[in-house]
Amino acid sequence: MKFFVDTANLDEIREAADMGVLDGVTTNPSLVKEEGNVDFHEHVFRICEIVDGDVSAEVTATDFDGMMDEGRTLHQIHDNVVVKIPLIKDGIKALRALDEEGIRTNCTLCFSPTQALLAAKAGADYISPFIGRIDDISSDGMTLIDEIVQIYDNYGFDTEILAASIRHPTHVKRAALAGADVATMPFETLTKLLNHPLTDNGLQRFLDDWEAYKEARKAEAGME
Ligand code: E4P
Repeated sequence: MKFFVDTANLDEIREAADMGVLDGVTTNPSLVKEEGNVDFHEHVFRICEIVDGDVSAEVTATDFDGMMDEGRTLHQIHDNVVVKIPLIKDGIKALRALDEEGIRTNCTLCFSPTQALLAAKAGADYISPFIGRIDDISSDGMTLIDEIVQIYDNYGFDTEILAASIRHPTHVKRAALAGADVATMPFETLTKLLNHPLTDNGLQRFLDDWEAYKEARKAEAGME
């Protein structure tokens, strides 16, 4: 499973990349807004310089021509840029057209298996089902991942399933069990994957015992 961080924050991206487990980054207009007064295209380029992997950058046009123009411009920024296209009628058309121009895409805002089927048929490189937002309305986001995995397997679609809107480690675990290709998560969630009290307690016990062992060796050497 590939790990992406879902952030436009350069410090977080650097820290995740330093861990050596980062395969890419996803951004969206809301995440870019959180970074304040930055030039969007320049910012995407800076992200691409930090991470050796795919970086999703989203169009904001909602009509076919606008999405194509923005998609082509984003594609020019860096080879690793993947153009994020919303799952609407003109978006489906743009996915096909961008694919024909050799521009890679991530189809975003997916909330149903039939939307995912359309995106795959249109040639999307990634499909982004938003798990957390489905859970937020008392439904089960993970069922959507299971269903997309099954549908894509049934027909041999190459579109990678990018589990998005991940909120906690259990989402990551369940997406991995379901066979999602990628999990994109906030940096905080990535660090939470490390957490286990038995690891902390176990390490402390090993370190304490090691100190006691060294003390005992020292005492014995003193007695000789
Ligand atoms: C995915 O690419 C989106 O940027 C993201 O996962 C949305 O997550 P949210 O529902 O926490 O905003």
